[in-house]
Amino acid sequence: MSAEETFVPSTSEWFYPTEDIVKQAAIQDYETVYQEAIADSEGFWARRAETLAWYQRWEKVLDKSNAPFYKWFVGGKTNIALNALDRHVKTWRRNKLALIFEGEPGDKQTFSYWRLWQEVNKFGNVLRSMGIKKGDRVTIYMGRIPELIIAMLACAKIGAVHSVVYGGFSEHALADRIEDAQSRVLITCDGAWLRGSIVELKKIADQAVHRSPVVETVIVVKRTGQDVPMQAGRDFWYHDLMALPIASTKCETEVMDAEDPLFILYTSGTTGKPKGILHTHGGYQVYTSTTLNWVFDIKDEDRFWCAADPGWITGHSYIVYAPLILGATEIIYEGAPNYPYPNRWWKIVEEYGVTILYTAPTAIRGLMRFGDAWPKRHDLSSLRLLGSVGEPINPEAWKWFYNVIGKGKCPIMDTWWMTETGGFLITPMPSVGLKPGSCTRPFPGIEADVVDDSGKSCPPGVEGKLVIKTPWPGMLRTIYGDPDRMVKTYFSAYPGTHWYLAGDSARKDEDGYFWVIGRIDDVIKVSGYRLGTAEIESGLVSHPAVAEAAAIGIPDEVRGNVIYAYCVLRQGHQGSEALVDALKTHIRNEIGPIAIPSKIEFVSVLPKTRSGKIMRRVLKARAQGLPEGDISTLEE
Ligand code: WT7
Repeated sequence: MSAEETFVPSTSEWFYPTEDIVKQAAIQDYETVYQEAIADSEGFWARRAETLAWYQRWEKVLDKSNAPFYKWFVGGKTNIALNALDRHVKTWRRNKLALIFEGEPGDKQTFSYWRLWQEVNKFGNVLRSMGIKKGDRVTIYMGRIPELIIAMLACAKIGAVHSVVYGGFSEHALADRIEDAQSRVLITCDGAWLRGSIVELKKIADQAVHRSPVVETVIVVKRTGQDVPMQAGRDFWYHDLMALPIASTKCETEVMDAEDPLFILYTSGTTGKPKGILHTHGGYQVYTSTTLNWVFDIKDEDRFWCAADPGWITGHSYIVYAPLILGATEIIYEGAPNYPYPNRWWKIVEEYGVTILYTAPTAIRGLMRFGDAWPKRHDLSSLRLLGSVGEPINPEAWKWFYNVIGKGKCPIMDTWWMTETGGFLITPMPSVGLKPGSCTRPFPGIEADVVDDSGKSCPPGVEGKLVIKTPWPGMLRTIYGDPDRMVKTYFSAYPGTHWYLAGDSARKDEDGYFWVIGRIDDVIKVSGYRLGTAEIESGLVSHPAVAEAAAIGIPDEVRGNVIYAYCVLRQGHQGSEALVDALKTHIRNEIGPIAIPSKIEFVSVLPKTRSGKIMRRVLKARAQGLPEGDISTLEE
């Protein structure tokens, strides 16, 4: 069930799409399209870019002169909001539903393209009236509500760079990200609904702004309606601003260079400092819309539900941007999948006639636990495609999703990608044969491989490092404020090349199918969330009782991995249940609830190499009662 155990050899069962699915698919012959794209990658991406609107056509598709700082669609002028909104309101799509929102308490809202465009225009004008202009960073910290999407699109429209911080992060994590981006404006809400209670986002935002005084203005969406303190001159209600004459429904879209920044999204890496991954308008819009179009085969009559949070890359690419670029109708749901009962999602599928459901293995495993009776109470026959992302999906969960939810007729698109990649890199398309647990083969235009440390391709069945050998339009452009770190982290593993190192280990089988095993760096995937051991460790060490700490990921049936932490205490401190609780609360405040270790153990020393590096591998083996392997470098 764990990431480590998901590999199934190439003798795995095959699952083939029905004739009906193949007939509808945008791409029916993967092989030919893949070969064409590899033979002429620039021509291929140019043809994809031609499906979108540009104020001015590019002069050059790809500039490799300063690799790995690639430039795509050089000289092109566009704006992702031109493609996601402006162009639709000039067609019949103005009347089409863009968003269907269901709140956790059961309230509903719908937005046609016309209405969404108007709201975005109004908010774009509000931001402009506050002096926000092209290139300025705006931090957004909100629950899963339509205003989050409106705020992101409004930033894009006026050329501001959004930095969305997931609502599950704490004040400390939020303050760090505000500070790194130097955002003068923070957009938040009074609270968010989660399992019937309120997550007090405004309170957390206030504490973050207190730590990070660079914020001059806080815009607050009223969602839960509880009393929140508003600081005069700094805090403004969203609805008050949107009622001002300045908030007109006409808002000029900023003409952006294809390579102008669209957003920064922070993600965890091997050091404690989160990395601000930067994406741009031009290449990102081409890459996300092409991948969504071909992998989820979006049609006008579809109702697409990506059940991620807009605060993560999955939500950025496949809730906020690509579906709207394609003119799709999509669902967003605010709350927990099992609230008030474990049929909440299935009820939503039935009620709205969802045709495509894209989610994560951890959610599938979580819902599977409640048994088949819950989904069986609902008519799920509208579904035609399913999707998975975030970590390897174990064949048992795959088959449950396929049989119980998809009734054996909906192919599962197991999409492998990362914050840094902008969109799917290794993924099935509806017309290809599937093997449960494999993300199948690379998307057209993507040259992926599994290699050993010298860069040689690994033979089938042999584990190695997952690399991407050539650039693609949706790739990250830099780490905000730290370009050297981008080169060092992703492009330096194989001298003489500019291969992108994903940080995952994988195997290929005889059919060229990829089987991702998991992270090989100090990143732990907990319920699909990406956390750095260094972040958790520095969080623990910032508590006065802790001298040293080590965090590891331990396989878990539902969450993929959970965190175990080992702490060496400072002199004068005693390990106790109360201290365990205090440390858990401390991590909740420092990073957020997702980073809370499920087990904290007090030890007198940590296993280290003679050069002082913590041997997490040894801790991991011990915790699972497995052989410790080579410990010849272990310090006495
Ligand atoms: C890491 C990236 C991309 C959106 C969500 C995660 C793991 C992601 C899969 C998959 C196996 C997967 C990898 C990757 N991962 N999708 N289909 N099969 N592993 O984005 O937080 O940037 O994490 O998620 O380990 O490196 P992220």
